[in-house]
Amino acid sequence: MNLADPPPFRNDADTPTQAEARRVMDAVVKSRTAVRAFLPRPVPRSMVMDILDVARFAPSNSNTQPWFVHALQGDAKQRLTEALMRSHESDELPASRHFPSDLPPSCKDRQADFGTRYYRTLGIDRDDATGRYRQTGRNYRFFDAPVGLIFSIDSRLTRHSWLDFGLFLQTLMLAARSRGLDTCPQVSFVRHEPVILDALQLPAGRTIACGMSMGYAAPDAALNRLDMPRAAVDEFASFLGFDEG
Ligand SMILES: Cc1cc2nc3c(=O)[nH]c(=O)nc-3n(C[C@H](O)[C@H](O)[C@H](O)COP(=O)(O)O)c2cc1C
Repeated sequence: MNLADPPPFRNDADTPTQAEARRVMDAVVKSRTAVRAFLPRPVPRSMVMDILDVARFAPSNSNTQPWFVHALQGDAKQRLTEALMRSHESDELPASRHFPSDLPPSCKDRQADFGTRYYRTLGIDRDDATGRYRQTGRNYRFFDAPVGLIFSIDSRLTRHSWLDFGLFLQTLMLAARSRGLDTCPQVSFVRHEPVILDALQLPAGRTIACGMSMGYAAPDAALNRLDMPRAAVDEFASFLGFDEG
């Protein structure tokens, strides 16, 4: 992308370019889902580079760009997976808390709904703690995606910068989607932060934000069709001071 390119959009008219951009943009956003089964088809380094080259245009507070990415493939990815699987199987590190214990009811309901859909699709019973734990381990194999991404942030940074990181991740996922690739963002890696810091030889003062699997989705996998529902706009937005229309 070249910042010197003239913008294809005019503010004063609904041009054909703009209408097409809107159609494509909406389709890319709505077709992004968390994919957890991938084809063995490799992803070239140049494509990962292209995606990161778009993602870097994500906005950040005072343009601080607080993200760092390790992109892993082949032996490098395998070595990290093996270290993570050892840690997962030893079950020694404290569980990382994904949510507070007083999770708001709406979030709690949605989390429960996610769990029901996810484990039902996998045929894992609600009470089968071993099966669920085994499935959690699939995260550390990057769900067999050809590319594994690990995202880190300076440990001194606070929630404003974490917000920036979220924008970066979504921009990256959309750039991947528009190239026919799929992704799964994964906080599951956070529990094993010491293992990752060591394996990737990250300097002191880095925190693992999350990981991500990236590759070509396996089209027939039921796991890739969870169809996670979304609340309607009037459930999360209120409009003040607008005229009708
Ligand atoms: C920050 C973040 C962390 C996530 N961590 C995991 C994870 O560790 N493992 C996993 O299988 N899915 C993970 N997900 C995927 C969510 O479960 C998924 O985005 C959500 O259920 C909505 O489904 P959709 O992305 O398919 O629309 C994560 C998503 C986000 C945004």
